Amino acid sequence: MKLVTIHPEHPDPADIAAAVRILRAGGLVAFPTETVYGLGARGLDPEAVGRIFRAKGRPRSHPLILHVLGDDEARELAAGWNERADALARAFWPGPLTLVVDRAEHVPAEVAGGGTSIALRAPIHPVARALIAQLGEPIAAPSANRYQTISPTAASHVLKSLGDGVDMVLDGGACTGGIESTVVDVRGPRPLVLRPGGVDLPTLRTVVRDVEMHVPDVAKDAARPSPGMDARHYAPRGRILLADGPAHLARLAHEHRESPLAVVAHSEEARPLARHVLPDDPKGYERELFTTLHACDDANAQVIIIESPPHDERWLAIHDRLRRAAST
Ligand code: TXA
Ligand code: MG
Repeated sequence: MKLVTIHPEHPDPADIAAAVRILRAGGLVAFPTETVYGLGARGLDPEAVGRIFRAKGRPRSHPLILHVLGDDEARELAAGWNERADALARAFWPGPLTLVVDRAEHVPAEVAGGGTSIALRAPIHPVARALIAQLGEPIAAPSANRYQTISPTAASHVLKSLGDGVDMVLDGGACTGGIESTVVDVRGPRPLVLRPGGVDLPTLRTVVRDVEMHVPDVAKDAARPSPGMDARHYAPRGRILLADGPAHLARLAHEHRESPLAVVAHSEEARPLARHVLPDDPKGYERELFTTLHACDDANAQVIIIESPPHDERWLAIHDRLRRAAST
């Protein structure tokens, strides 16, 4: 495994060229995006894509996202690029939005988990864009972590999780978004959010007024529109307990005072009780959430008590990740 430090805004073309050589040879390159680090492979090469599933320990039925530069490439990978896809791509690409569309025939089924749809995203991160541009092909990239563990927001998280399972890691520093892209299925009568993420619901509504939120079914064997949407996901090794407000937080901290403990809070009232303080706004919180959960893991916390964030639409993606991380 090769670790290369790269400038996040002005990547050295020689480093990009070295990464592209690995991708062309069917290898795996982890790289920074504006959301989390991705584990990239040539997206239209079934064998290279197969290596992603192996490295992550992820079931092959869980579809991957193809990363492209923009809607020109996206149209070629989709069978039917409708008006809604067009409007959303125009508004939010490049950026943290993934569109699920019907899959063109020449896109291998392997990258789509065997299904007839395909997820497409145009990232804005200069390193990601330089890689896609120089490769001249879409890059398949899930988050660069082992299946069902916390997503990586720094190169050190990738190394900790995947180690030698990846051929090269481009270290472009911390991800500025910190939470994965919003996944929107645009095939149905109304756009459907399958995974809340970097673009929040109020912002999506400014472009698609009738956008709907898919409500995850907690029943583990229930049919899911998105095969990758397991209840348990984003989980640290320690057990997460969510606290409703400062008083509950204090009580839980007291109950678990004998265990190796981490306390995470964001509100002014709860801050004095916490070791880890997160920003009190959703974007700032998103940026630091996974980094904080990794830090709790690194400190071997067995119990992680987290103050529950406000119940406001702008915090939806955070609630989603916390709920999955807390589910056992
Ligand atoms: O921000 C991100 O999206 C990051 C960076 C690297 O781009 N990638 C990422 O990939 O989070 P991954 O594989 O960890 O998550 C992909 C999500 C999963 O929830 C999966 O179920 C959903 O997208 N997805 C992918 N293809 C799909 C499809 N064809 N239909 C429905 N959902 C799909
Ligand atoms: Mg993931």
